[in-house]
Amino acid sequence: MVEALFRALHLLGALGMATGLIIATLAGGSLATESERHPLAYQTFRKIYAYTALSTMLSMAGGLMLWLVVGKPAAFYSNNPVFHAKLGLVIVLLAVLIYPAWFLCRSHWQNPIPPTVRRLQKSALPLLIIIPALAYLVARGVGY
Ligand code: HEM
Repeated sequence: MVEALFRALHLLGALGMATGLIIATLAGGSLATESERHPLAYQTFRKIYAYTALSTMLSMAGGLMLWLVVGKPAAFYSNNPVFHAKLGLVIVLLAVLIYPAWFLCRSHWQNPIPPTVRRLQKSALPLLIIIPALAYLVARGVGY
């Protein structure tokens, strides 16, 4: 019962995080012309990234509980290199997000969005497929 609760928290959080990142990437791509870079756009990005950050924290809290406290023994995950790869990619995902989130949530950007921001946003998208794929393998004992 408790495990199911944290599992749901983890999966819903991951879903919210992925949705937020996809929306932020699409929204970033639609700000090509000056008229589209309305001063209020940053408020939208603030809301999107706040929602994404909350979902990420819920997902991470759920994941840590599944790893260390409830469900299968911690050794099932701690000794699995596929799980280590998943955690490593989660860290890469978070690192890749910081600069675009910081840039787009500032209230005073009127210049074109730097290519780095768009590149980093897009580079996070494949991770949203690879991380759940690794999680699927870990849950089925691959690598243990
Ligand atoms: C601190 C970060 C994270 C930790 C510690 C963590 C840990 C875990 C653990 C322990 C499980 C249970 C596996 C099992 O059923 O045996 C799990 C499942 C899962 N995780 Fe994570 N996770 C994290 C982040 C993420 C992220 C960011 C995503 C997606 C983008 C994700 C996607 C999934 C999915 C889809 C499953 C279900 C796999 C299945 O049952 O087929 N996780 N995670």
